[in-house]
Amino acid sequence: MAYNNINFNYKTILITGGAGFIGSNLTFYFQENFPNSKIIVFDCFRNNEIFPNGNLKSFGHYKNLIGFKGDVICGNINNQLDLALLGDYKFDYIFHQAAISDTRVYDQEIIMKTNVNSFHDLLAIAKKDSALMVYASSAATYGNLPSPQTVGKENPENPYGFSKYIMDQIATRYSKENPDLSIVGLRFFNVYGPREYYKANTSSMVIQLGHQILDGKIPRLFNGSDQIFRDFIYIDDVLQACIKACNPKQNGSYNVATGIPRSFQEVADILQIELDTDLGTEYFSNPYDGYQMNTQADILNTINNLGFEPKFSLEKGINAYIPEILRLHGTDIS
Ligand SMILES: NC(=O)c1ccc[n+]([C@@H]2O[C@H](COP(=O)([O-])OP(=O)(O)OC[C@H]3O[C@@H](n4cnc5c(N)ncnc54)[C@H](O)[C@@H]3O)[C@@H](O)[C@H]2O)c1
Repeated sequence: MAYNNINFNYKTILITGGAGFIGSNLTFYFQENFPNSKIIVFDCFRNNEIFPNGNLKSFGHYKNLIGFKGDVICGNINNQLDLALLGDYKFDYIFHQAAISDTRVYDQEIIMKTNVNSFHDLLAIAKKDSALMVYASSAATYGNLPSPQTVGKENPENPYGFSKYIMDQIATRYSKENPDLSIVGLRFFNVYGPREYYKANTSSMVIQLGHQILDGKIPRLFNGSDQIFRDFIYIDDVLQACIKACNPKQNGSYNVATGIPRSFQEVADILQIELDTDLGTEYFSNPYDGYQMNTQADILNTINNLGFEPKFSLEKGINAYIPEILRLHGTDIS
């Protein structure tokens, strides 16, 4: 599916974090739609190291790339020698997805080094090659601010959100200093869809609840889940935003979401309809203080400046995702 008339064939495309969820989907998007594009995935891939929260330090997984025919570089964006391997190419487009994506990592130093310092290096590559840069920002830049979340009003409440907030500021400054460069930040809200499985318990609630239901277990939600809302966005709409970001009316940070909040309860209910179960719901108390109760992105600028048009309601996205949820159920996550 071509989202605009840009021809990526014969273009050289760098996808950092290309073994992760969004990056690997982008990789296959280009391979399938633009078979003559030259795609380079740069990712550190996962090893056995874990953060104190028990989660893996990185989620890149080779299984997300089975079938990929382009170049793969296993490298760490924090390592200058690894980044130097990118000097063999001249990029037309850079999709910078690599990051510590786990919002519950509180080691500020490693988050800032990985998400922020490396951004300077990638922008320098974009400048050297005159490449267009699309990078992943996040709804976490807004913290617990009330909806609608609007670019220009940020209040990050964890190191991850702060790192993305600083990336957005770096991008703004870099855009001013380099007016010929296109730099677009995409603030993804709650993304779900194929190739997120290896994010384990940081994957979306859609797949986690889907697998609970397939295990025959009653889906477990926080008390009051009919009043906890998120702006969920299906991966295909994220791909659309990434492609449309390659033809921006204006550099900047843009929300990527549907603009329509849906409740946790609705997620569980739609899954039960799709999976043809009637297990009810089990509730437990929310262990998190200051939990965000409602996200709803203001996407007007994304519509106006990128031409973004979300196509997937929660019902349609979950319906499209079901075959993959079924296929992965019970499969090895290691
Ligand atoms: N999935 C979401 O809901 C969501 C929401 C908001 C923002 N984002 C952002 O979108 C981007 C992609 O997210 P995702 O969901 O695909 O996460 P992901 O964890 O699946 O992908 C990130 C990739 O970066 C790689 N990586 C991590 N540290 C690295 C390092 N030091 N060097 C090289 N590679 C490294 C990982 O191995 C992984 O493959 C991230 O920047 C994330 O912060 C995602």
